[in-house]
Amino acid sequence: MNVILMGPPGAGKGTQADLIKANFPIPHISTGDMFRDAVSKGTDLGKEAKKYMDSGQLVPDEVTIGIVEERLAQDDCKKGFLLDGFPRTVKQAEALDRALAQIGKKVEAAIDIYVPEDVLVERISGRISCKNCKAVYHLTFNPPAKAGVCDKCGGELVQRSDDQGEAVKKRLEVYAEQTNPLIEYYEKQGTLHRIDGNRNTMEVFADIKKVMESL
Ligand code: AP5
Ligand code: ZN
Repeated sequence: MNVILMGPPGAGKGTQADLIKANFPIPHISTGDMFRDAVSKGTDLGKEAKKYMDSGQLVPDEVTIGIVEERLAQDDCKKGFLLDGFPRTVKQAEALDRALAQIGKKVEAAIDIYVPEDVLVERISGRISCKNCKAVYHLTFNPPAKAGVCDKCGGELVQRSDDQGEAVKKRLEVYAEQTNPLIEYYEKQGTLHRIDGNRNTMEVFADIKKVMESL
């Protein structure tokens, strides 16, 4: 099962990826999580990525394509993968197709979660996540039992630096300009599945599950 999960910032990719992971035995590869991990460890990659992330820009294609190719070459990806937040540009999509073709594979489903912009802004501005286990909550839609504390591990809940101020607007603009063309790209390949993400989490997941079970 070689699946990619697309959708604008706040569409619910990470939330759905957690459910997919619990139901299908394929690794979840999120470039956003990989970059945030590198930022928190203070590596060279993290220092480079942070410059772009904090202002809502995309990390350059050369950097991003390199880390994804390396990750896809690992053993656990032999049985398939769920890519979340990659590809995000046509250049990344083409590089992915080339890398997969070399090992006799291809993208089997491109799942695009669409949500109106006002809902995206509401979701992003209320999101908080655990510093320790990375679990994601929402102040209104999915609040933790005790304010500021993770239900799963007791860790501290914090807001992402790019979920504040101008970075939010910029991320939505960048998505519209650079990532939206991928919808046509995958439509042409016949692998596109568009899912209405403006419903409750389990309704969205039920549709995604159907797509995945059909592969
Ligand atoms: P990334 O981490 O990928 O962020 P994003 O695409 O902006 O997506 P988000 O994490 O904001 O949203 P999501 O769709 O996962 O939503 P979530 O499930 O959390 O990328 C961050 C940055 O890294 C980029 O800006 C860029 O700089 C860099 N980067 C990453 N990949 C790159 C690439 N390929 N190339 C270049 N640069 C790259 O949900 C949001 C909130 O809504 C949560 O609070 C959640 O609880 C709530 N929620 C979710 N679903 C529902 C629902 N159905 N109903 C109500 N609330 C819901
Ligand atoms: Zn936690």
